[in-house]
Amino acid sequence: MIDFHSHILPGIDDGSADVRESSALLTMLREQGVKTVVATPHFYPGRMSVSGFLERRKEAFERLCETETCPVPQILLGAEVRYYDGIRHMEDLELLCIEGSRVLLLEMPFEKWSEMTIKEVATLSRSSRVTVVLAHIERYASYQDPNALYRLLESGVLMQANAGFFTGRFSRRRALGMLSQGLIHVIGSDCHNITSRPPQIGRAAQIIEKRFGSECLDHISEFTRDILCISNINQ
Ligand SMILES: [Fe+2]
Repeated sequence: MIDFHSHILPGIDDGSADVRESSALLTMLREQGVKTVVATPHFYPGRMSVSGFLERRKEAFERLCETETCPVPQILLGAEVRYYDGIRHMEDLELLCIEGSRVLLLEMPFEKWSEMTIKEVATLSRSSRVTVVLAHIERYASYQDPNALYRLLESGVLMQANAGFFTGRFSRRRALGMLSQGLIHVIGSDCHNITSRPPQIGRAAQIIEKRFGSECLDHISEFTRDILCISNINQ
């Protein structure tokens, strides 16, 4: 299984506080069957430079590797990039894509998206500069006109849901419904720490398997592997 969204790198954002917590998160992910995890620290345009972010991410990863010499799950470096008007023109945007791919995890505004926002993301997606994946779609889907989501899908935009959407007692039904409607393509734990926001992706996988069978999980893994363009990635 691939965890597409996580904050496991130590001391770089509001996720893992230090190397000890990062190691504990890796252990939890491993025990839940995750073979590959994408580390997606927050990137806030305007507050930080791309080069500065990449340098801090590299340092955080190296600190972790001093303890976890050969981390399992395998870690791919990425970012969770906050949307802003004009992002399609952002220089160096490709450098924020998930390592080895042209996939960009984009965090959208937590409000009803304007027509300009929808067009901006659709244009970025259609430009083929990057493959856009909207982070934790469940966190903003309810504010949106359903047509907005379908217009983005038609533009090639993909959607990631958090494991907690599936494990939540009151959200599970909606999560499974969105998955069956093709509104969710990839899944991430979005884990931040071992206390209030631990990984729950193993439980989410069980819920999906129970409802749709193991083929559904296999399909998600295969699709995730395909968009990451890495053929030898651990599933
Ligand atoms: Fe996140």
